[in-house]
Amino acid sequence: MPVRGTLTLLLGILCLGHLPGLAASQTLPAGEEALGSKSYDDYETPARCRSCHTDLFRQWEQSMMAQAYTHHWDEIEYFQLAVPHAQRDPQLAEVEAGCNGCHAPLAYWAGDVPPPRPEEGSRANESVSCDVCHTLIGYRGEVPHNYNHISRPGRVKVGPKPGKSSPHHDTEFNRFMLQTELCGTCHNEKSPFDVWVKSTQLEWQEGPYSREGVRCHDCHAPRAWARSASMAEPDSVGQHLFHGAHSISKLSGAVELRMHPDVREVEFDGTVVFSVQLFNAKAGHKIPTGSVEDRLVWLEVTAIDAAGQSYVLPVDEKGFSGEAYTISSDVLAYQDLGVPLDRPDFPGVQRDGIGAGHRIFRMPYFDPQGRMTIMQWNTASLGVDYRLGPRETRIETFTWVLPPEIALGRVTVEARLNYQKLMTPVAELLEVPEEESEVVMINRTRTSIEVYD
Ligand code: HEC
Ligand code: HEC
Ligand code: HEC
Ligand code: HEC
Ligand code: HEC
Repeated sequence: MPVRGTLTLLLGILCLGHLPGLAASQTLPAGEEALGSKSYDDYETPARCRSCHTDLFRQWEQSMMAQAYTHHWDEIEYFQLAVPHAQRDPQLAEVEAGCNGCHAPLAYWAGDVPPPRPEEGSRANESVSCDVCHTLIGYRGEVPHNYNHISRPGRVKVGPKPGKSSPHHDTEFNRFMLQTELCGTCHNEKSPFDVWVKSTQLEWQEGPYSREGVRCHDCHAPRAWARSASMAEPDSVGQHLFHGAHSISKLSGAVELRMHPDVREVEFDGTVVFSVQLFNAKAGHKIPTGSVEDRLVWLEVTAIDAAGQSYVLPVDEKGFSGEAYTISSDVLAYQDLGVPLDRPDFPGVQRDGIGAGHRIFRMPYFDPQGRMTIMQWNTASLGVDYRLGPRETRIETFTWVLPPEIALGRVTVEARLNYQKLMTPVAELLEVPEEESEVVMINRTRTSIEVYD
């Protein structure tokens, strides 16, 4: 049965190769031109869709896109950092409205910026809602980014399949719904300094999954045999999970780890080299992706000797340029937070807050003064990209000169890959709810050596 759904879909794509909305799309605004071009009333609420599309609604409601405006960290970053920063620095003026182009599209299209705070319960709270995506008919420009999509609100809902009918609305098949460019209009972002500060769809494009036709949808909205509406016949329906880094099950096992020592048996005053292989097996883009400025993904290797004493093994340096940003340390960073926080002599906070010597898979963002920043809109340049590419395998080594106090017998060595959405020092400074800085283990592996006299 699922085969039939796929065949209908394929036929649909073959017959309707061009965007049906092309003519209309030429007159409708995209990107910045769309600011204030519509009103809230042009769009239906997600609650309206819920009555028939119950399961899809309940799935979407739990996703971050349903909370893109109301989620507490978003509120803090927008109202405490971005808005005051935009008001103080003319070069950043555009972001006061711009954040909403992706996080509160209805408010952006209605020209209601800055929108009322989430607690006021305005329609900005609908965030990336059903009617946001299901009225998008294409995008304008060469590369999808910075909300350069085209919205055509109204009775017609665009969907992934031809020939669907509904008692509440008209439906129209649009190939755009099946393309990663749809996601790219919000998941690729350029800063006011013309720097790519989000490039999830571009990373996907240059990686192996695009060549195989495995799209964002296949991993984040996988199809299952189900009813898309309460009165519909079962079909192969994209589940609106949109699970990402906020979902432990999505992060779990995204990278596989193995580790081996160069020697199994070592004299008590000897040296062992552990090699760890990290394989990005599950993500269609780099890890981390998206809000890379906030993310910490780090490899921690610890050893426990026969007496139960534990040791942290520092990673070996490789000697590439910019490497210092990829090894955790106690340096201070993020001094540019002082501008929006109105603390002119702000010394910064700890850059990583995870202890020293661990390998961090990251790409640092720099402000116009060359200091590391977590404010992606204040990013004037990028540092070394040491993230794990899709299906890439990386090797890290740990040379361990056995400490004099080591106990004889078996030493168990564990490698853990950890993930943190927001580094603790920044989360504490801005009083971001703890769940944003919770440490999640992506994976772990073990090996052992024998120490003899
Ligand atoms: C981020 C954009 C986005 C949001 C938000 C979104 N959808 Fe979708 N929706 C899609 C995409 C993309 C597909 C096509 C998935 C596929 O077929 O691969 C889709 C498919 C559908 C379908 C067709 C299912 C089928 O295959 O028969 C329905 C119905 C639907 N969505 C309803 C909703 C409702 C209701 C909401 C809100 C509760 C919603 N969508 C929110 C992007 C979105
Ligand atoms: C009164 C019930 C009802 C309401 C309310 C409703 N829909 Fe639907 N919708 C349907 C039915 C029925 C279908 C066809 C499903 C099928 O046959 O698989 C459908 C299909 C769709 C499709 C798929 C079209 C395609 O080409 O594959 C989309 C997208 C969609 N609805 C979006 C929405 C959105 C967005 C809302 C809220 C603004 C909404 N619907 C409200 C009943 C409803
Ligand atoms: C082969 C499966 C796969 C494909 C294809 C894929 N992803 Fe992912 N995605 C994942 C996995 C696994 C994670 C969790 C690991 C992580 O956060 O990096 C993830 C994480 C994410 C995150 C969360 C990142 C963060 O740090 O918050 C976003 C956003 C995302 N994906 C968007 C996309 C978009 C947009 C596309 C298409 C351009 C896409 N993904 C394609 C598997 C996939
Ligand atoms: C209108 C803009 C927009 C479109 C279109 C859009 N997204 Fe998003 N998406 C967002 C925003 C904004 C967030 C961040 C929500 C937050 O945490 O504040 C997000 C978050 C996500 C996350 C959750 C990441 C996490 O950290 O857990 C996933 C997964 C995701 N999107 C996938 C997709 C996919 C797949 C598509 C295309 C089918 C898509 N998005 C289309 C704006 C969009
Ligand atoms: C081009 C679209 C776009 C623009 C413009 C944009 N964002 Fe986002 N934002 C996203 C997407 C997509 C994500 C999800 C990426 C991920 O999961 O890593 C996101 C994630 C976030 C997050 C959540 C990070 C987390 O840990 O989950 C915050 C906070 C945020 N954005 C704030 C802002 C602020 C403030 C602005 C304006 C200065 C802004 N964004 C502008 C698309 C955008």
